[in-house]
Amino acid sequence: MTDSEVILIKTASEMAQALEVRRAVFIDEQDVPEDLEIDEYDGDPALIGTALHVLASQDGEPVATGRLLLEAEHGYAHIGRVAVMKQHRRRGHGTAVMEALHELARERGFEGITLAAQLHAIGFYERLGYTVRSDVFLDAGIEHRWMDLSLALT
Ligand SMILES: CC(C)(COP(=O)(O)OP(=O)(O)OC[C@H]1O[C@@H](n2cnc3c(N)ncnc32)[C@H](O)[C@@H]1OP(=O)(O)O)[C@@H](O)C(=O)NCCC(=O)NCCS
Repeated sequence: MTDSEVILIKTASEMAQALEVRRAVFIDEQDVPEDLEIDEYDGDPALIGTALHVLASQDGEPVATGRLLLEAEHGYAHIGRVAVMKQHRRRGHGTAVMEALHELARERGFEGITLAAQLHAIGFYERLGYTVRSDVFLDAGIEHRWMDLSLALT
């Protein structure tokens, strides 16, 4: 396990730190175009009512992030943009981010979570209880499959 601290992002400067992590992981490492990576859910958290973002830090340094979109389909919220800085992977930060997002979803009464998993990350999500529900599709040129988690089962 890790000693990472995970916070619900409330300020524009915390949001900027989360976007630095996403830039390093998705834009620089995975070559996702910036105009696809950053979208309408990524503004000032004080003004955006449709998404919650979390930030994990270790020794004051931002290391991981993820977001929960609150526009539910059939009672399921949507988790996305889960990213851990390369040098900090496999130390539990990704799990800590997911658990914080699950808790936020539970508090808001969602029945479950849906997400689009990059194929390499399916094992990570399966370990958290998610199951695959779709064939492979392309998003930003990267292969994904839809996965679901019922929060009633966790
Ligand atoms: C996927 C990702 C978020 C996982 O974060 P992490 O902090 O490394 O994950 P954790 O340390 O919490 O992993 C917990 C467990 O999940 C599993 N796991 C983690 N990464 C995995 C991977 N790439 N493939 C298979 N299983 C994985 C392992 O069982 C791991 O436990 P272990 O290290 O004791 O074996 C991280 O690799 C990442 O940011 N990747 C790049 C961005 C990305 O692809 N995001 C997902 C988009 S859908």
